[in-house]
Amino acid sequence: MCGIIGYVGTKQALPILLEGLKRLEYRGYDSAGVALVGDDAIRITKSAGRISVLEQILKHDDQAVTGIAHTRWATHGAPNDINAHPHTDQSGRFAVVHNGIIENHYTLRTYLQNEGVTFKSDTDTEVLGQLIALLYDGDLEETVRKALHEVRGTYGIAVVCRDEPGVIVAAKRGSPLLVGIGKGEYIVASDASAILAHTSQVVYLEDDEMVCVSANGIRTTTLEDIPVTKKIQEIEWTLDQIELGGHEHFMIKEIHEQGAALKTCMRGRIDPEKGTIHLGGIADVARELTRAKRIILTACGTAWHAGLVGEYLMEELARIPCEVEYASEFRYRNPIIEDGTVVIAISQSGETADTLAALEEAKQRGALALGVVNVVGSSIARTTDAGIYLHVGPEIGVASTKAFSGQVVVLSMLACYLGRRRHMSQPGAEQFLTALERIPEQVTTILEQNDACRKVAETYVDRDNWLYLGRGYQYPVALEGALKLKEISYIHAEGLPAAEMKHGPIALITDDMPVVFIATRGSQYEKIISNIEEVRSRGGRVIAIATEGDHHISQLAESVIYIPDTLEPLQPILTVIPLQLIAYHAALLRGCNVDKPRNLAKSVTVE
Ligand code: AGP
Ligand code: GLU
Repeated sequence: MCGIIGYVGTKQALPILLEGLKRLEYRGYDSAGVALVGDDAIRITKSAGRISVLEQILKHDDQAVTGIAHTRWATHGAPNDINAHPHTDQSGRFAVVHNGIIENHYTLRTYLQNEGVTFKSDTDTEVLGQLIALLYDGDLEETVRKALHEVRGTYGIAVVCRDEPGVIVAAKRGSPLLVGIGKGEYIVASDASAILAHTSQVVYLEDDEMVCVSANGIRTTTLEDIPVTKKIQEIEWTLDQIELGGHEHFMIKEIHEQGAALKTCMRGRIDPEKGTIHLGGIADVARELTRAKRIILTACGTAWHAGLVGEYLMEELARIPCEVEYASEFRYRNPIIEDGTVVIAISQSGETADTLAALEEAKQRGALALGVVNVVGSSIARTTDAGIYLHVGPEIGVASTKAFSGQVVVLSMLACYLGRRRHMSQPGAEQFLTALERIPEQVTTILEQNDACRKVAETYVDRDNWLYLGRGYQYPVALEGALKLKEISYIHAEGLPAAEMKHGPIALITDDMPVVFIATRGSQYEKIISNIEEVRSRGGRVIAIATEGDHHISQLAESVIYIPDTLEPLQPILTVIPLQLIAYHAALLRGCNVDKPRNLAKSVTVE
């Protein structure tokens, strides 16, 4: 989803803006542009397509020291040169970049047109630049404030004005925005990756807050012009964590990082010898959480799949009724939230609009609202009553990998934490945590199966429809495996509970259909073997993810990827790894852009 960066200071702005846009590329976009504030004009350069297209038309010797830039993920108006940001008013006095949706853009556009304004683009964003121009009274900050009082919808914006060079005004509602504080310079951006090369000191804007940065310093206020004192925070990440580090793609880097990342995720939180877990982020609500009558896990996409594993974990280990809800559905279906309900939002980015809105809806109805989030200081993290960070490091590849396994590890720790406070015995907790502690090394072992996974991809990559089947804890993994294949190789795939196949999808089985079974040793092993037989008898091409030492399955499946054994509730963290690798290799074989799949964004900050 879109990226914003603005620079004001003493250096040449353009290289900083371009480098920042490249660091934001992973968020997904379709066009890009830059506005540079010169002595008597704002110079706009923008184009559809990648940043490399923009670079070819830019004047790189532009010495402006103030500028804003944008990568757009179109919501209103086709992804073309005209609709790319920055957008200006008619006179070219102002330039605006925007992340989000102005919901009353049509009303504002009509009003402005009645005031004689002529529009150039089809976007909602342009109304903002035109409105600011109409209201301008010589004070950019106050004018932006006035204009935003007329706007409904979501925004992260940065605005510059030809008459006030050296000033950037920015504001936030529903889309992320933070300010990097350097020596005599400020960088406004959508996320920390665009700031980290210049400073690790940042302040995060909250909804309905504005900021004005210039050589005179930084001033943060509410939309009602009440000064706000912001705490300066330190970005946890390092530069090499957001760079490729010798890998061909971020996705394969992050797949291979999972062993180390999960070790970091658990560090200081589990003690297998004592059977204890320490989750500092929820300590203040431990009592209320332990007495929960119901847990609702809400998320989108891969995070939702992790939530589905979480549902099984909470009910088995903590014996607390649990359900998992698509955030986009939960927020609009007038959910029932009774006393004792805990809602947990799961989100890698912490900026997914639907998940944030679902969390706010739950809070409004009195639920205890928690977060399982990766990005520190993100909007979801700052909206929760308490939470648990993944600490798996920045995830740049659009297809989520280490965040999924990190989410499942956190949910496993949480389920055991609650179970231990309710009925789980110490030996039971010791056994669970001992197995959990081994997971990172087992993950790393599975990565040695890379060639076997690539061979599976090579064998079936020209098939246009795949089926992923699993039972119990492996059902969510089937969904996740299908999503990985779909989103980066564009092969259609469907994940199902294996038993469901007989209720319709079995009609799809032919000798042309790869069927991936997650068939590890567990409580439903015999059942999944029967399902494999059903597929084989209809000519289906069986691929199995199986437990090391299971030689029986190699007589049933054309391809088998073996993984180490562990407790059944922890198997999803291991069985997902081969599915990530198969999807990765299939995407490469199909010549797809693995890190920036078409139409996709890393964080969907619009609904
Ligand atoms: C996963 O590979 C996708 N990129 C997508 O489904 C993602 O998981 C979803 O958009 C939720 O993102 P979040 O975890 O940042 O909230
Ligand atoms: N709604 C605006 C547009 O379509 C901004 C989209 C974005 O967040 O990039 O241009």
